Amino acid sequence: MDNDLRLQYLEAMGIDVWLTRTSTHSEPSLLSEVVNDSAEPETAALADRWDALQAEVANCTKCALCTTRTQTVFGSGNKQADWMLIGEAPGQHEDERGLPFVGNAGLLLTEMLRAIGLNREEVFITNILKCRPPNNRDPRADEAESCNVYLQRQQKLIQPKIILAIGRIAAQTLLKTDEPLSRLRGKIHTFNNTPVVVVYHPAYLLRSLTEKRKAWQDLIYAVQIMKENKG
Ligand code: URA
Repeated sequence: MDNDLRLQYLEAMGIDVWLTRTSTHSEPSLLSEVVNDSAEPETAALADRWDALQAEVANCTKCALCTTRTQTVFGSGNKQADWMLIGEAPGQHEDERGLPFVGNAGLLLTEMLRAIGLNREEVFITNILKCRPPNNRDPRADEAESCNVYLQRQQKLIQPKIILAIGRIAAQTLLKTDEPLSRLRGKIHTFNNTPVVVVYHPAYLLRSLTEKRKAWQDLIYAVQIMKENKG
């Protein structure tokens, strides 16, 4: 996305964008590594479990999406993150690059995170589905079911303090409900005892800037829940 356009979106959302004096409006750096080699040492056993899980996902043939994908999209970010973000499924760019949220919606997501003081490297971002559905159609129930075990294992390994379900489909699938997004927002849900907050999908915001204020409210709500949980 053009940088000026991106700034316009953020401004429309009421999000202040801070630039350093020397900034040349460069594109925010998207995460390029699945692994965050942070200062926190991982135990060898934990690293082995991550490696095993990642290899399993990469070789998964549990549903027909394995025949149409370019590659799997495991997820990226901090493997000990407090914040776990779960979207719906990889799109074309994600399928090509093997990383989640790297298209236009991803750029806006990066900016939304930045607006609440987070960068992509400190959260973990993944999707309900690890493979792109053809033509970006909605995930099917059997596909989500096949992938669910991977999501659960990721959550167990990360032990996040909060999960953001990004958009209606991710929220409905994760929470096993048909309730509309309007009824899911602004409440705490749980997934395996981890609090879940439902937020608007940035792709939706790119189409409908009239929902901008609500999107910002969702993020503020998530920050508030996180603060409360930290005690
Ligand atoms: N939309 C999603 O839900 N996930 C991605 O990874 C990209 C776009």
